[in-house]
Amino acid sequence: KRVAILISGGGSNMVTLVDSMTGDHPARPCLVLSNNAEAGGLAKARARGIPTAVVDHRPYKGDRPAFENALAAAIAPHGADIICLAGFMRVLTAGFVTPWQGQMLNIHPSLLPKYRGLNTHARAIEAGDNEAGCTVHEVTAELDDGPILGQARVPIHEGDSPEQLAARVLKQEHALYPAVLKRFAAGDRTPITLG
Ligand code: GRF
Repeated sequence: KRVAILISGGGSNMVTLVDSMTGDHPARPCLVLSNNAEAGGLAKARARGIPTAVVDHRPYKGDRPAFENALAAAIAPHGADIICLAGFMRVLTAGFVTPWQGQMLNIHPSLLPKYRGLNTHARAIEAGDNEAGCTVHEVTAELDDGPILGQARVPIHEGDSPEQLAARVLKQEHALYPAVLKRFAAGDRTPITLG
């Protein structure tokens, strides 16, 4: 299977996914694409010899379908079977998602269905939760929705800052996403739970 990974920033999840696709793993990375030309992850992808692309969303301001058509056009030449969103910070509408439905994954830094959207760690702390975590799910046109393929749980400690919790969750993201992708690429969609 050929995997295109979409990023917007540092790409730490992308790096762990790329570095996991070796040996008998049923998938290989075919493209790393960012909506942000300054994304630190692009240099990491290039250092690993992976084709990269940039589709800046700003010229398409106010015309989401045009941005999504440009995304699709940038991905098409690489023959991707699977798309992994990894720190990709643009909302994708049904126009892009529907053709990929069932073959597109995302990692979200909360225990969905709790805390869809942004600022998940601050919200969990604010709510007084005693645990947090991350979720890998199939992408649908509903934001941070779709069938859950894996979750990893971490404790929230007394006095945790959002940054401290984010760092603890990110470690689990780096364990969860590669584990889910390996199964998913082999056709196994049985949900897994870590921690
Ligand atoms: C992480 O907080 C992750 O939860 C979310 O995007 C952020 C950056 O991820 N998906 P990355 O380091 O760019 O993979």
